Amino acid sequence: MVKIAPSILSADFARLGEEIRAIDEAGCDYIHVDVMDGHFVPNLTMGPPIISKLKPHTKKPFDVHLMIDPAQPYLEEYSNAGADIITVHAEADKHLDRSLQVIRSLGKKAGVSLNPATPEGILEYVLDKVDLILVMSVNPGFGGQSFLTSQLDKIKNIRAMIGDRPIELEVDGGVNTDTIADVVAAGADVLVAGSAVFKGDDYDATIKALRDAV
Ligand code: DX5
Ligand code: ZN
Repeated sequence: MVKIAPSILSADFARLGEEIRAIDEAGCDYIHVDVMDGHFVPNLTMGPPIISKLKPHTKKPFDVHLMIDPAQPYLEEYSNAGADIITVHAEADKHLDRSLQVIRSLGKKAGVSLNPATPEGILEYVLDKVDLILVMSVNPGFGGQSFLTSQLDKIKNIRAMIGDRPIELEVDGGVNTDTIADVVAAGADVLVAGSAVFKGDDYDATIKALRDAV
């Protein structure tokens, strides 16, 4: 069964604790936290102090997507704040191999994310150091954008590269009941959904609709 990781970027920021409890009760698998620095991406969101305040609201893993450049100096801080999976962008990291080693040495799962224009070949020499690969199917920075179908071939290629390694393949951006089946057919097993989950009041129903659409 696929995992659903609602992105709290589309939640009500004034009631984040409550929102996290609601998606937890609605059966999500991960809490996807989009960290943006106003530099790597043209938007600014939250950092370690907010994550550490949110952490006690659920036992579900915090899947922290760092859209920050540089990321390496802050990895320990995000780990201490309660991140369980820490994903860095290949484009924002001159020393990707080292960052992945640092994340694992902190006892966390190490993820690499690729922007839509970044080819999958960049993963070739780090495959044995990653626990999760995150394919961006929109240009990062904002929720509610349309899925880029160009990424389906990349997802298929990465699934083949992974082989039998225990690496999760996550897809982020424009995932909804219309697109999820193609994304899963291409090989994704963790689906981030922001606007698709938070658009209504009944998160139980929206998460179930996503699973049913697979
Ligand atoms: C975009 C973020 C996504 C975003 C997805 O930069 O990384 O996680 O919240 O939002 P939707 O599901 O609305 O495309
Ligand atoms: Zn994200």
